[in-house]
Amino acid sequence: MNTADIVRPDIRQMKAYAVTDVPAGFLKLDAMESPYDYPEDMRKALGEHLTQVPIRLYPNPSTCRLLHTLRETYAIPAEAEVVLGNGSDELIERLTMLVSKPGAKVLAPAPSFVMYRVNAEFFGLEFIGVPLREDFTMDLDAMLAAVKEHQPALVFIAYPNNPTGGRFAREKVQAIIDAAPGIVVVDEAYGAFSSDSFLGDAGKIPNLVVLRTLSKIGFAGLRIGYASSTPEIIGELKKIIPPYNMNQLSLAAAEFALQYPQFINENINKLKGERERMRTALHAYAAVRDFASEANFLTLRVPDAKALFDKLYENKILIKNLHGTHPLLEQCVRITIGTPEQNQQVLSVLAEMYA
Ligand SMILES: Cc1ncc(COP(=O)(O)O)c(C=O)c1O
Repeated sequence: MNTADIVRPDIRQMKAYAVTDVPAGFLKLDAMESPYDYPEDMRKALGEHLTQVPIRLYPNPSTCRLLHTLRETYAIPAEAEVVLGNGSDELIERLTMLVSKPGAKVLAPAPSFVMYRVNAEFFGLEFIGVPLREDFTMDLDAMLAAVKEHQPALVFIAYPNNPTGGRFAREKVQAIIDAAPGIVVVDEAYGAFSSDSFLGDAGKIPNLVVLRTLSKIGFAGLRIGYASSTPEIIGELKKIIPPYNMNQLSLAAAEFALQYPQFINENINKLKGERERMRTALHAYAAVRDFASEANFLTLRVPDAKALFDKLYENKILIKNLHGTHPLLEQCVRITIGTPEQNQQVLSVLAEMYA
């Protein structure tokens, strides 16, 4: 067999997403993971809990306890149905599949989370990225004009946005939901760090889907995302989500995790505090432009993003160099917020370079 004859030509042209191989001893501040591990006693309790999990059985992601716990913990409206995804990544993929009729279009502000575009391409759909303003706020007129012109079947709005960190104005997002002819996904991957949310509207607005994840609040390794929307939309989505997409160990570990909201919330509050402390510290450097963030990372523009990336790398700190990924991200880097000690390490390198 010759794969060239079999595999879709556009897939043969693609490159696989390369998850960074982090050298030992490095501080990993490139992917918005939480820096906080469970304390020893909680690790032990989790271990005990997992010994009870029936791994010989398939899970039932539609009826598992975690669904109810998520509803209660995050006050998901009774009108909404909820479906779990193997990370919100899987839900982004399936939502795109759901609308993938020939000629359908996907629209999002740009720059935003790369998987919106990637998934549109997987399903052969045209992707329209509507540029943000220079300060990374949303250009509502341009968004509304693009919605009118392209009539997208699917709009993605990351709220707050990745990789820019800011939260778009709620009224602008609402205006897009009102104007869009299709589904609008408000992706709240960073919702825990934000001052606003659309989760309370899930199930009440016919074309709204709210996506959330446990990844950014301490559990990236579990791969737990969830979508909340009307029974109609979630009903369609459930038809194309594999019946056993979640695994018993993750479901049980997430269920355990949510029994300790204090651990989660304290960490969120520490990270929000650190984010503001970092921003204030950075104001001292005229060469560094920082952007308002409601996420667990800061996006900065510096004189030479690669030089900063390299200098941090020399100091065994891994961040994300955004330069070259979108014209608006010229000389920008994205740095995940860590513990106070970790952030101090970052700040001392920045001080060396820009003070
Ligand atoms: C905006 C946004 N949505 C979704 C995701 C995917 O999160 P996960 O698949 O870990 O739930 C990310 C991850 O970086 C993200 O930034």
